[in-house]
Amino acid sequence: MLIYETIKDLSACVESLKQEGKTIGLLPTMGALHDGHLSLLRRAKEDNDVVICSIFVNPVQFNNEEDLKKYPRDIEADIALLEANECDIVFIPSEDEIYPEPPTEKYNFGELEQVMEGVARPGHFNGVAIIVRRLFDWTKADNAYFGEKDFQQVAIIKDLVRQYSIPVKIVVCPIYRDADGLASSSRNKRLSPEKRALAPKIHQILLNSASCVADLSLSQIKGFVMSDFKMYKDFKVEYFEIVDDVTLQPVMQKGANGVVGCIAVWLDGVRLIDMQRYY
Ligand code: PAF
Repeated sequence: MLIYETIKDLSACVESLKQEGKTIGLLPTMGALHDGHLSLLRRAKEDNDVVICSIFVNPVQFNNEEDLKKYPRDIEADIALLEANECDIVFIPSEDEIYPEPPTEKYNFGELEQVMEGVARPGHFNGVAIIVRRLFDWTKADNAYFGEKDFQQVAIIKDLVRQYSIPVKIVVCPIYRDADGLASSSRNKRLSPEKRALAPKIHQILLNSASCVADLSLSQIKGFVMSDFKMYKDFKVEYFEIVDDVTLQPVMQKGANGVVGCIAVWLDGVRLIDMQRYY
């Protein structure tokens, strides 16, 4: 596995891969890799000649200093995991390498960013777009891999690609869940064993709500989910929205597009997100 720390070295490698006609898959990450990342890596390996995994805890997408400080980091374990799973190239830049100057790009995603994470974490998606667009440029990826758990992030990145005609295909992969149903996330590592045992309730509550979709209206489902969470004092729901899966705007009844429920919930000082498809 090749490890690059500078854009110059990565670009030279990408240039020669392109000259050889190789296809490149990009797996952008912030490290603290888990089984969810590995499932994306497997898919990327199936689809491409070469896979580049980037590891960079992107400070400009954090709207909360404490969250940035506490974000789990274990670069040695990440490298070992990528090596064992036959990743071809890992790009691990420093903050100075990515941002020699404070970034000034300003993106506008309209209504897509005026709901849910966009409201709860001001500036977050602008920060995501800044790093993701730069990574697309440097890696010249043919395909880039993202997990469906970050449902709104995926919609934003697809819109970024559309707005700037970036020649990359966005491949969205299903949520990878632990055996007990908890969606894989680097943040799960911060849960105490006791709270980790409680965390699968998030998926269970959403799944139960989906089993009622034939009998209840979407607003009843919303009420059902909120009242279920109230039974557990350890959970604090930040938002639960039932939205159109294309526009991300809240819906009260099914229209032409699919319908998903998106949730952000605090447990043990850790912010977890998940989603559930209703239609
Ligand atoms: O989903 C993430 O881990 C991050 O938002 C991403 C896409 C790697 C950008 O920093």
